[in-house]
Amino acid sequence: MREAYIVTSVRTPGCKRSRGAFKDTRPEDLLSFILNAAIEKTPHLEKKDVDDIMIGCSFPEGEQGFNIGRIASQIAGFPVEVSGATVNRFCSSGLEAIALAALRVMAGWSEIVIGGGVESMTFVPMGGNIPRPHPEHAKKHADLYTSMGITAENVAKRYHISREEQDEFAYNSQMKATNAMNSKLYTEIVPTPATKFVQQKKGTFKKETFLIDYDDGIRPTTTLERLTGLNPVFAADGTVTAGNSSQMTDGAAATIIMSDEKVKALGLKPVAKFKYYTTVGCRPDEMGVGPKYAIPKLLKLSGMDIKAIDLFEINEAFASQAVHCLKELGIDQEMDKINIHGGAIALGHPLGCTGAKLCATLLANMKERGVKYGIEAMCIGGGMGAAALFEMCA
Ligand SMILES: CC(C)(COP(=O)(O)OP(=O)(O)OC[C@H]1O[C@@H](n2cnc3c(N)ncnc32)[C@H](O)[C@@H]1OP(=O)(O)O)[C@@H](O)C(=O)NCCC(=O)NCCS
Repeated sequence: MREAYIVTSVRTPGCKRSRGAFKDTRPEDLLSFILNAAIEKTPHLEKKDVDDIMIGCSFPEGEQGFNIGRIASQIAGFPVEVSGATVNRFCSSGLEAIALAALRVMAGWSEIVIGGGVESMTFVPMGGNIPRPHPEHAKKHADLYTSMGITAENVAKRYHISREEQDEFAYNSQMKATNAMNSKLYTEIVPTPATKFVQQKKGTFKKETFLIDYDDGIRPTTTLERLTGLNPVFAADGTVTAGNSSQMTDGAAATIIMSDEKVKALGLKPVAKFKYYTTVGCRPDEMGVGPKYAIPKLLKLSGMDIKAIDLFEINEAFASQAVHCLKELGIDQEMDKINIHGGAIALGHPLGCTGAKLCATLLANMKERGVKYGIEAMCIGGGMGAAALFEMCA
C-alpha cells in the first residue's frame, strides 16, 4: 500500500456548550471555517485538488444534519465536484473520518482527501433531539443505551478506581491545560470567528462575529479541595462529578492527507504518516474500557511495543475510565507521555470532532517534543475503542 501523508492538521478552540464562545455559532460555520483554514495553511494547494471531504459527527441531525460534510464544504467554497460525507462512530467519528481519508490515499483511490470532525453540543444535544431506542431490543439490552455517566460509574466500581484517583487525574488535566494555554503551546488552534447577536437601538438583533483563540472550558483556578467537594452527578452514591468528567463542547477540526506524489508535486514538507488504525468492541455498559483493548490491538497490528511510543493522546471521557485504561496498559506511571497539555476534562469533548481535534493536538505535541511515534485512542459510546498510530516525518 502507499503511504498516507498528513500535511496540515488544525482545529478551532473547544468552547463550552451553551455558555461558551460558540453558543451562537452554527456547526456549519465552524466546520467551513476550519476547512478553509486548513487549505490556507497548505501552500500551493487549491480546493479543486481535493478529492473528497470526510467529516465525523456524532449526532448528525438538526443544524449539523443534511450531510454536514457536504453542506459545510460547499459553504467553504469548494467546487461542486469536490464530494463530502458525514461519518459516525460516536466519539471516534473524527478519527474514523481521518482513517477513511488516509485509506483512500493508501489504496490509490484518491490523491488528496480531507478528514475532519465537527460537533456543536449546543445546537444538537448528546443523544440527539428525539432519542428513540429500539423498543424490544432496549427491554432486553438496555445496556446498549446506558448513559455515558453511568458507564463511568460502572468502570469506577468494577475496577476499583477511587474518587481520589479520579479527582487527582482531573486536577492534573486542568493544570497541564492551564500551563499549555498560558505558555501558548496549542499551536494547532486557528483563531476562529464566533457569532454573537448584538441588540440594536430599535430592539432588533444584528449578527456580528468576534475571534476566539483559546479553549474556554479550562478552569485555571481548579484546586483538589474544590474537586473533592463536588457532588456526584450521575449516581447519588457515585464518584463521577462535573469536575472529573469531560465537558460538553462545540468545535471543529480538519486534517489534509495526500499521497507521496502529491506531496512532491506541491513541494510540501509532510508532517506525519498515518500508519495504522483499529477499532474493537467491548461491553456497552462499561464503554470507557475501550482503549485498553484498542491500543494493544493497534500495537499488534503495527508490530510495535508500547514502550516505543513517545506520546499518547487518550481521550478523557471520564477520569475513571482514563485512569483504569492507563493502569491496564501499564503506562499510568508515565504521565509525562500522556495528554501532555491536558485532555477533555479541561479542554472539552466535542463528540464527533474529538478524534479529529486530538489528531491536530497529538501532531503539534509530537512536533514540539521532536518525537517519532504517537498514538491517539478513545473509548466510544455503545461499547467500543479506537486507536491510531502516527509516525512523524523527519
Ligand atoms: C458532568 C456534566 C453533567 C456536568 O455538566 P455541567 O453542570 O454543565 O458542568 P459544568 O462544567 O458547568 O460544571 C458544573 C459546576 O461544577 C463545578 N465544577 C466543575 N468543574 C470544576 C472544577 N474543575 N473546579 C471547580 N469546580 C468545578 C462548578 O461549580 C460548576 O459550576 P460553574 O460553572 O457555574 O462554576 C457534563 O459535563 C457531562 O455530562 N459530561 C460528560 C459528557 C459525556 O458523557 N460525553 C461523552 C463521553 S463518552
